Amino acid sequence: MSETTEHKCECAEAYRDIEQVIEKHRGDSGALVQVLHNVQERLGYVPKDVQVRVAEALGVSLSEVYGVITFYSLFRERPRGRYVISSCQGTACYVRGAPEVLARLEKELGIKAGGTTDDGLFTIEIVRCLGACGLAPVITVNKDTHGRVTEDKIPSIINFYRAQAEAESGKAGD
Ligand code: FES
Repeated sequence: MSETTEHKCECAEAYRDIEQVIEKHRGDSGALVQVLHNVQERLGYVPKDVQVRVAEALGVSLSEVYGVITFYSLFRERPRGRYVISSCQGTACYVRGAPEVLARLEKELGIKAGGTTDDGLFTIEIVRCLGACGLAPVITVNKDTHGRVTEDKIPSIINFYRAQAEAESGKAGD
């Protein structure tokens, strides 16, 4: 594997397993989704250089690999952020202002839905219902639920998690 990878996962074992799966399916273009699924499960995303490796081994084009990754929402090209913000765009949330909440999230974080901030702190995802319609509009941040969110509340919610991350990294440095 190349020296210039930007892997966040340090787990050599995961890469060995992935390599075995890729080799097992060498020349089998029909196994593309299955192989990518395995990579996604082990690493949490499908790094660019692994995409190249899969394409070469299975005998498919890189654009085909990329096409599959972008088609299925299950696959990601980058690791998710430390805080995954799920913005509900289900009907109950939608009619109570979820699009404005999402737009504010995107503006404050400088990313689009599906993206991750450069500092690796935040990922925004769109979901269709979080099962808390009575609290619409709803976002979750990891396991925390924030109900009746308005766009004006977004900066303070983001700041809360930023401060939490800073406090935790401060503790880690003690
Ligand atoms: S539609 Fe948003 S929680 Fe159900």
